[in-house]
Amino acid sequence: MKDKILVTGGLGFIGSHVVVELQNEGFEVVIIDNLSNSSKDVLKGITAITGKEPAFEKFDLRDKSLVIDFFKRHHDVIGVIHFAASKAVGESVNLPLLYYENNLNTLIYILQELQKNKKSNFIFSSSCTVYGQADSLPITESAPVKVAESPYGNTKQIGEEIIKDTCKVSENLKAIALRYFNPIGAHESVKIGELPIGTPQNLVPFITQTGIGLREQLSVFGDDYPTKDGTCVRDYIHVVDLAKAHVAALKRLINNDNSSNYEEFNIGTGKGSTVLEVITAFEEVSNQKLNYKIVDRRAGDVVAAYAETTKANNVLGWKAKLSLKDALLSAWKWEQSLK
Ligand code: WQD
Repeated sequence: MKDKILVTGGLGFIGSHVVVELQNEGFEVVIIDNLSNSSKDVLKGITAITGKEPAFEKFDLRDKSLVIDFFKRHHDVIGVIHFAASKAVGESVNLPLLYYENNLNTLIYILQELQKNKKSNFIFSSSCTVYGQADSLPITESAPVKVAESPYGNTKQIGEEIIKDTCKVSENLKAIALRYFNPIGAHESVKIGELPIGTPQNLVPFITQTGIGLREQLSVFGDDYPTKDGTCVRDYIHVVDLAKAHVAALKRLINNDNSSNYEEFNIGTGKGSTVLEVITAFEEVSNQKLNYKIVDRRAGDVVAAYAETTKANNVLGWKAKLSLKDALLSAWKWEQSLK
């Protein structure tokens, strides 16, 4: 009997790559997705890669009665990886209540169901955004959580607190929060990747769309920061490396290797790259010049953020293996496949 894992938001960018890695490791997967930021076609892409079609249910986790019903029908789910959430930083400033409802109510409803189980394993999709501009770099898990710069970032901070408080009173519930740095790239098969829904807010999809001619020019948000070339520094991690970190975290919980029933891990490469370095790397892998211009800074951007990954390396036994160029080449191949 295979261990059955629920992946909420499993047809999304990161979720779909995690489903592939879970299936590769022999887990049975059931996906819940409301398709608000994904497409049912992603199911075909996952199946084309692994040869196994995951079970899929389309509904909105904001409907508490549907969440209760799901867990009644799937009482054999032994783990949940929770991606379903809104994730656009800028949008969250204009629509705070949508973000607090969608990102927190859904988390609460799932945890309420897991509390009823005799044993539950929960992986939370968190973000380095909880650190804001860290006081020292690289950023360790013990770095202080700063006042959030956006409602999106606040929902990640509050989400971690909700899980922590729940784990304190539910010895049957074990949880790990994975604080992602900047996920980029696509699966090497070119069957799944980041879907181009709307204007990309993030750097790499905007770069690949500019490279393919969908966008006229990339705007680089500021080159007057105190960094090596004046542009911001981020830790860009290949989405497949990130996906493998989820499997490592899940196995830690299933095997009862966790030292406490709530743990946090930074998931990054440990290496920082400036925006101009990303552009240069993209030009090398795509063998073409990228059209960009320097414009004003973007509100809310931190100067630099990259991970100290010792804890994930030593405790999870996980380490990022793919390079910035590997990730950019995979993103470029994915973009070309969409033409
Ligand atoms: C990276 C760098 C921009 C676009 C956010 C969230 C984080 C996670 C990842 C959800 C910055 C610059 C960007 C552009 C640019 N989201 N940039 N021109 O802001 O580090 O992180 O997305 O999980 O939680 O905070 O990522 O890709 O938007 O920006 O110059 O058109 O690229 O200024 O320096 P960010 P990003």
